[in-house]
Amino acid sequence: MTYIKVLVLRLYDFRLMHVFFLLILFLLVVQPANADDDDIIARIRAGDAASGKKVYQRCIACHTIDKRGEHRVGPNLYGIIGRRAGGDPTYGNYSEAMQNSEIILDYKNLDLYLENSKLLIPKNRMAHGRMANPQERADIIQFLRVYHDNPPPLKTD
Ligand code: HEC
Repeated sequence: MTYIKVLVLRLYDFRLMHVFFLLILFLLVVQPANADDDDIIARIRAGDAASGKKVYQRCIACHTIDKRGEHRVGPNLYGIIGRRAGGDPTYGNYSEAMQNSEIILDYKNLDLYLENSKLLIPKNRMAHGRMANPQERADIIQFLRVYHDNPPPLKTD
């Protein structure tokens, strides 16, 4: 009898553990994900467009930024924030990966694309694949906001 009792108690414990485990998982996965988003927005908000202009010198060989600027090796970047990745129909040179991507380049995705473009869109062809410095990414994104008819607000919700 005691053996069965212990077994039942163990099983009950096990079920409680599951609930506990799921709760922890929820807290780990759901909460910090939002906190991360807020952190990214806060970092970009603190970015500086003038510094971003300097960072942009690294892009200039392949990208123009002025409205209706020419395409170079890469597409013109005017108004890129909020657009679908691979979504400029006048640039005829996207990789298949970019063409087929359903990713919207909102602030979070743009930040990720600049940090490691191949992580966000595997097999994309941008040779300048990585910008490790978060401050530089915030600065260039602020610079990109200037070259936009209507940049989305940098709000945390
Ligand atoms: C050596 C050339 C090169 C350099 C340097 C370069 N890019 Fe690119 N970039 C590309 C190419 C090519 C693509 C298109 C990739 C594809 O289709 O797979 C691209 C795509 C992009 C896109 C997505 C555009 C869209 O319409 O979806 C963004 C945003 C971008 N680059 C930003 C930058 C920024 C910011 C820099 C500078 C820090 C930079 N790139 C430097 C070649 C370059």
